[in-house]
Amino acid sequence: MHWLTAVLGATFAVLGSARPEFEVEARQAPLPIPASCSGVTARTSYKLSVADGWKYTLIGAGLNKPRSLLFDTEGHLLVLQAGLGLTAHTIGADGCISSSKTVIQLNTLNHGLALSPDGKTLYVSAAPTAWSYSYDPVTMTATNQQVVVKGMNPGGHNTRTLAVPPNNPNLLIVSLGSQGNIDVPTAQKEAGRAIVKVFDLSKTPAGGWTYNTHGWYLGYGLRNEIGIIFDGNNMVWGVENSGDQLTRAITGGRSVDVHIDNPAEELNFLGDPSKSNEQWYGYPTCWTVGDPSVITDKAFKIGQQFMITPNTTFNDETCAQRSVPPRLSMRAHSAPIDGKFDKDYKNLYVSLHGSWNRQPATGYKVVQIPFTKLENGQYDPVAPPDAPFSQGYKDILWTQNEGSCSSSTCLRPTGITWHPDGSRMYVGSDGSSGEIYILYKA
Ligand SMILES: *[C@@H]1O[C@H](CO)[C@@H](O)[C@H](O)[C@H]1NC(C)=O
Repeated sequence: MHWLTAVLGATFAVLGSARPEFEVEARQAPLPIPASCSGVTARTSYKLSVADGWKYTLIGAGLNKPRSLLFDTEGHLLVLQAGLGLTAHTIGADGCISSSKTVIQLNTLNHGLALSPDGKTLYVSAAPTAWSYSYDPVTMTATNQQVVVKGMNPGGHNTRTLAVPPNNPNLLIVSLGSQGNIDVPTAQKEAGRAIVKVFDLSKTPAGGWTYNTHGWYLGYGLRNEIGIIFDGNNMVWGVENSGDQLTRAITGGRSVDVHIDNPAEELNFLGDPSKSNEQWYGYPTCWTVGDPSVITDKAFKIGQQFMITPNTTFNDETCAQRSVPPRLSMRAHSAPIDGKFDKDYKNLYVSLHGSWNRQPATGYKVVQIPFTKLENGQYDPVAPPDAPFSQGYKDILWTQNEGSCSSSTCLRPTGITWHPDGSRMYVGSDGSSGEIYILYKA
């Protein structure tokens, strides 16, 4: 039996002090970074590489599809394991996981996890529903389950990313992707899919908010905005998984296959979650150019948007007028699904879950997007919107032989979270054996 299976469901006493302020003092000597953790081995044989100046250590294996990770206020690592529930992991004095506990056993949970800024309310999601729980970080127990958002489209892309703005504990952001690859009705935001919405939790009606008809928008025409990320001004950025198998109509009623490097995956600026953002980001009509060279009927730059079949009333120029293009593009099919800024907001780290619709395969890595603070105070990527991928972001942790990867043979990065002391990132991987890595500068 694997160590995690062995400890699931068991309750362990919390080590150390119960108060975060004392914990900080107790940790004047920094938490060591382990080079390995005894008994933790990956089941798969993929080989990883790291960028110069970085190292990684496997600290957890045999989890059940770890998807979202965050720290509670007592320094426990919370992991949303899809198909199982929520677990809490105590980090021991050696920096490895010393004990684990099941907090919520609910097999419909599949991705979403958020914690209120005071650490006392947990939010988790299944495809149709998001719930809140009262959370005690000392005992790592969740009680008082309440529906906060209901009536979400049960089919299609089924993750429901949840996020609470660090400066606004009353708001819950909920992302809901499209029904399929090209979900035509979502050209209207009222379709209730391919959108991000925000709900005011201080006014939740009995039985919860209804997704389609309540709350306000944080953008629409967003095919599958899995990663919801806050910058240093508490503005929201989204990373989007864009379409598969796209073609481009050319003269004579013919179409060419452009799918290997189009459409690009997207980093979108969604803005201030306390205000409604009813801007359209293009889906399911306007797609982002990743490789202009294969769209031969027109001169595009990376990051501009194209239609599959322009017509007399709607063409690429209409896209340019009506749709908000991404702020930065990433390689087609690489599947960005989470991201976190570093402490100084100088870099955004994004997990690229990995492709199925590209040959050679791509993704299966963690990348770094350099950011800067503009004179007006806004955070913005260093690279311009038409930057080639090699300028926009850099690989930090990647699977060797990326091009031959499949979902069961390579690193499949999912949730990313920083240790509260800023010394290391924790990265989940939900491939054939669920893993947790730490990634750190060394
Ligand atoms: C042109 O394309 C737009 C956007 O896809 C669509 O709504 C419209 O029906 C199309 N018009 C014609 C005449 O095909």
